[in-house]
Amino acid sequence: MCGIFGYVGKRTNAGQLVIDGIKNLEYRGYDSWGVACKRGENILVEKNTGKISGVDSQQFAEECMQAIAHTRWATHGGVTKENAHPHVSTDSTIAVVHNGIIENYQQLRDELKKKGHTFLSETDTEVIPHLIEEELQNTEDFASAVRSACKRCEGRYAILAMHTTSQTLVAARTGSPLIVGVSPEDGYFIASDIPAFMEYTRTVQYLDDGEMVVTDGQSILFMSIETGEEHPKREIEITWTIEEAQKGDFDHFMMKEIMDQKESIARAVNQDEEQIRVVAEAISKARGTFLVGCGTAGKACMASEYFFSVIADHHVNFAPASEFKLYHHFLKQESLLIVISQSGETADVLEAMKVAKSKGAKVLAIVNVEGSTIDREADYSLLINAGPERAVASTKALTGQLAVLMLIAYAMAGKLREGKTLLLETASLINDMLNPRYIRRIEDLAESIKEKEDLYIIGKSWNYPMALESAIKIQEVSNVHAEGFAGGELKHGPIALVEDKTPCIALVGNDEVTTDILSNTIELKARGAQTIGVSPSNNEAFDEWIKVPDAGHAQALVNIIPIQILAYFLAVKRGKDPDMPRNLAKSVTVK
Ligand code: G6P
Repeated sequence: MCGIFGYVGKRTNAGQLVIDGIKNLEYRGYDSWGVACKRGENILVEKNTGKISGVDSQQFAEECMQAIAHTRWATHGGVTKENAHPHVSTDSTIAVVHNGIIENYQQLRDELKKKGHTFLSETDTEVIPHLIEEELQNTEDFASAVRSACKRCEGRYAILAMHTTSQTLVAARTGSPLIVGVSPEDGYFIASDIPAFMEYTRTVQYLDDGEMVVTDGQSILFMSIETGEEHPKREIEITWTIEEAQKGDFDHFMMKEIMDQKESIARAVNQDEEQIRVVAEAISKARGTFLVGCGTAGKACMASEYFFSVIADHHVNFAPASEFKLYHHFLKQESLLIVISQSGETADVLEAMKVAKSKGAKVLAIVNVEGSTIDREADYSLLINAGPERAVASTKALTGQLAVLMLIAYAMAGKLREGKTLLLETASLINDMLNPRYIRRIEDLAESIKEKEDLYIIGKSWNYPMALESAIKIQEVSNVHAEGFAGGELKHGPIALVEDKTPCIALVGNDEVTTDILSNTIELKARGAQTIGVSPSNNEAFDEWIKVPDAGHAQALVNIIPIQILAYFLAVKRGKDPDMPRNLAKSVTVK
């Protein structure tokens, strides 16, 4: 949450450059924005509430070779101009942007206030420029002052700091992501995520936890925050293209990414077979396998409980990452933790990894963002290769995660080839399904139910986690009250919610639980619900039928797609921006 982006180098329009670049990080927060530009020995700060996408970067086109920018998702302090970043020191010579939370900020703030510092915001961040200001009384070197200030901060942070009289841009990270973009022609870009600077370079250097960098735009130094010791850093070429990170002809990233599933699932399936076998063996050998993820990724973990049970006859344990504490005492050296994350940066997931590692357990990550913290810190890592996912609502990452998990389950059963064939066939069925007529059919359904304020989704077996995922998708983008249930649980409570013509969606496959879920749908119909079946075949239980291909064990991948499309159209028809849902951010780097 929150995106930061800084630039120092030969380009003379640094202010405009960081504003344009940070628009690509708006998925990380869109409450407010701000920029600090260095002109001569002055730092000019401009900030406000509202979306960065609405800011005309032209107004920052004036000459400047160093700038930092921020897009905010509020944690400490409401959405006000004062709380927007950058924050500055009492003498306004230091400007800082920050992503994360300084946990001991109260204590630091009290201490600094006693020393005469004046605070203008309610944020935790504001202590940082003031701490740097204090440290500058002991040293003339700006980077050393930033380093000393960082050592006093507890919590998670990625910061960018600049000073009126120093030529250097200083960045530091502990817990929140920070990546350097390297361009011999242009200089150095430092951002929370790569799309900020992809237009200029695809050569990157990742900061690790506890590292800081100091650059004047011509060279860069990586050093330890703790010791100040300098060390070399590897340059990596990233494979994502600028086109993949853009909307193209689509109105929203969400729809673009739903349509990307025509190819992204096949990319996820085409894993190195040997690596999948190694992972499958690690699960077989582990004494206790635990899966954790958050939000949509958590639903993929939950679905995999069914995959491993049905396909591989193997028991695994799922918990949402934020609830993983329940399992901490079961973790041993022989345990395996599987973490699933699109961004590879989710704080609760990182916390689970930290605990598992401290107990000597091994960690397998299934991520989308290569080079992300989770990708780098896991013992084994598999990439789902979905390409950049920018919409807050996760779509193509989910189907990629499901595909990789199924592949592993098949490998454990000694049937990797069979699993691969099934998944590639499913990918091709999805490719055919995502045609304009099909999309229109679901748009029409959205039109017919767009005024409804409550909507329920039921499923059984792997369609149960997909019912939960369907509910999240609809809630987050359209703000309709949607809830997912296990079909069999309806009669134990939720059915009391059903009124005349309440839309109820049943996710159905062609398998051993079909009869049960159809019975549950009929129970709903008998209570007056408007039943909508997402199913390979029509049935009298359905008032409306959304046809999906029969994908056997891979039905979960197929059934979720019409719901993604429905959620999208419900949002649009209800006047919401599906790419920027209320109160949400894509990458949740705070606990
Ligand atoms: C946020 C996003 C969700 C996502 C979840 C986990 O809540 O809005 O779309 O599923 O984080 O993110 P991750 O990057 O770990 O998959």
